[in-house]
Amino acid sequence: MSPFACATAVSLLLVSGCAAVPAPTSPGPAAPSPAAGDIVQAGTPGLRTRAAEVPRERIATPELQALFARMIDTMRRAPGVGLAGPQIGVPWRVIVLEDRAELMARATPEEVAERGRVAFGPRVFVNPVLRLVGEERASFFEGCLSVRGYVGVVARHLEVEVSGLDEHGVEQVWRVRGWPARILQHEVDHLDGTLYVDRMLTRSFANADLARALYGGKPAAEILRLLGP
Ligand code: CO
Repeated sequence: MSPFACATAVSLLLVSGCAAVPAPTSPGPAAPSPAAGDIVQAGTPGLRTRAAEVPRERIATPELQALFARMIDTMRRAPGVGLAGPQIGVPWRVIVLEDRAELMARATPEEVAERGRVAFGPRVFVNPVLRLVGEERASFFEGCLSVRGYVGVVARHLEVEVSGLDEHGVEQVWRVRGWPARILQHEVDHLDGTLYVDRMLTRSFANADLARALYGGKPAAEILRLLGP
C-alpha cells in the first residue's frame, strides 16, 4: 500500500486528509471547513500507529515535496503551530512547525512571555529524533488539531534538541527552549502514536472555550492551583 493512502477520506497548541486522493467534492451534512476536513480526529487508527522512517532518497521526489507543502498549508489554514504526517493520513515520520506573530497576538504579552513563544519557521523535520535536555519542566494548556475543541495541561521538558533531515534531505540539529520545545515534543509524539491526552493532567481536560474563559491570562502557577490537587 502506498504510504500516501488515506486512513480516512476526510487533523491548538491552543493549537484529515490524504496526499494522493482528492478531497471529497460533496460537502456532506456538516460542511466542515477545508482545513478541518483535512485533519483526522482522535479515534482514527492512524493516530495510534508508529509512523515509518522516510527513505532519504525519497525526500527530493515531487511526491514528498508536495507533502511538505501540503502539511505547511494545512497547518496554516487550521491554524496551528505544528502538524505531523499521521494527522493528514500519511504514516511517515514528517513534522512541520511554525509560530507566527499573528497567532501569538491571540495571547496576552504575559502569556507569550511565560510560554517562551517566539516567531520561527516554517520548519520541516523528516525522521526527527528528540533528546530531552535537562530536568526543567513547564506545565501549560495545549491542544491538538486532532482533538478538536479541547485542551489539557501537559507538563513537558522546557528544552529539547531535535535532529533529523530538512526538506532537502540535509541533516539539521535544533536545540531550543520554550514553546518551540513543547511543539516539538507534541509533534514527535504523534509519530509514535501518542496524543497529548496520554500525558495530560487528566483533571485539566477542558472544552477550549471554557478553558480560555476560566484560565486565559492567568499565570501557570495560578491555573494549577485553581485546578486543584
Ligand atoms: Co497534535
